[in-house]
Amino acid sequence: MAQNWTPNSWRQKPIQQVPDYPDQAALHAAEDQLATYPPLVFAGEARRLTKALANVAEGRGFLLQGGDCAESFAEHGADNIRDFFRAFLQMAVVLTFGAQQPVVKVGRIAGQFAKPRSSNIEKHGDLSLPSYRGDIINGIEFTEEARIPRPERQIEAYRQSAATLNLLRAFAMGGYANLENVHQWMLGFVKDSPQGERYRKLAARITETMDFMKAIGISSDNNPSLRETDFFTSHEALLLGYEQALTRVDSTSGDWYATSGHMIWIGDRTRQPDHAHIEYCRGIRNPLGLKCGPSLTADGLLELIDILNPGNDAGRLTLICRFGYDKVAEHLPRLIRAVEREGRKVVWSCDPMHGNTITLNNYKTRPFERVLSEVESFFQIHRAEGSHPGGIHVEMTGKDVTECTGGARAVSAEDLQDRYHTHCDPRLNADQALELAFLLAERMKGAMDEKKLAVASA
Ligand code: PEP
Ligand code: CO
Repeated sequence: MAQNWTPNSWRQKPIQQVPDYPDQAALHAAEDQLATYPPLVFAGEARRLTKALANVAEGRGFLLQGGDCAESFAEHGADNIRDFFRAFLQMAVVLTFGAQQPVVKVGRIAGQFAKPRSSNIEKHGDLSLPSYRGDIINGIEFTEEARIPRPERQIEAYRQSAATLNLLRAFAMGGYANLENVHQWMLGFVKDSPQGERYRKLAARITETMDFMKAIGISSDNNPSLRETDFFTSHEALLLGYEQALTRVDSTSGDWYATSGHMIWIGDRTRQPDHAHIEYCRGIRNPLGLKCGPSLTADGLLELIDILNPGNDAGRLTLICRFGYDKVAEHLPRLIRAVEREGRKVVWSCDPMHGNTITLNNYKTRPFERVLSEVESFFQIHRAEGSHPGGIHVEMTGKDVTECTGGARAVSAEDLQDRYHTHCDPRLNADQALELAFLLAERMKGAMDEKKLAVASA
């Protein structure tokens, strides 16, 4: 158990990115109410995820983490959840084939509501209002009324998270995630994509493998692992009052767990070692993510690893690197070398979104080529350093939005206005997300085949 830690010890530390709640009595009432609610996840599940991530840290798996930048109350419908899950599972299958390793599936979902902001104020013309901080805190409409932080929103976010998680569990275990379904969806994508020719070869190899399995009698009827899947949830642990209210002791181990989601992460703006967010996270036993941006030094990273993972347990800590396509070569190697030199066990994951945001026609966007470029550099650098490129972390949706430019359907700067629906950062649409998986899998598979060839001819 972490020394001198309690679920509320973070309250004694300096803190960044806290909302200014005008009604403190209502805030306490909401937190007290949340503290009586059932946990959203069970500690045993978080431990299972840690175990799966430990395999990734040891080079025997790949992490796929993705979902909305910010979930919203307005977009809470079955279709959105289903479409996200469909796109996500297709990515997972393609990546499993490419990596020839198990893919650990973690959604940015069922709790991803609170947003850190670079400015406290948003200005339109002469009017300045408090920034939108995510639906769990205030409303996105640009009115004085909407921007007031309201504690009741935490109850609504909990309710939405529970309902979302319920449907995801049903999909994951109830047959919807059947590999044969996912395979059919993927073939549909390849058929319709303007770049389909490019993906057909890999898709055909997956089909061949499925046919072979069927021929020898392995099917979803006789093999649960083909009709069910492990799916985990994650979000940024930004709103610590909410997190504290859902922090519970696990009766089997006596350890504290955040029960708001399976994995939680610390944002790039709130990772000061002596501040509240690090204090909270060090005491809970869930697997943790840590966002690593350009300002993180090698010593700073080692200090944070010491605080968050003093036992050097594999699977406990995932480093989510988000430098930008043009900065990754400058920053990633020095962090990898420090971590490797000190023998620290981590999962290295690449977030190719948050360092690649630009503004076009007044829309925040991300060019698909830059997203792909950062992932490619991430892989190349890890190969050169002899470390394991363990995963990707993406902002994506299952819908056909126009938020990121580029991709096979070539979303242009002019197209952005058509279907720009995000509540915060621009997300890859379903096609762009799947393309990213195909392009990545193609390269991973190429590298694997080369390795096998070298072994065979040695
Ligand atoms: C995010 O993941 O939505 C986010 C705000 O990331 P970062 O902390 O890396 O900027
Ligand atoms: Co974001």
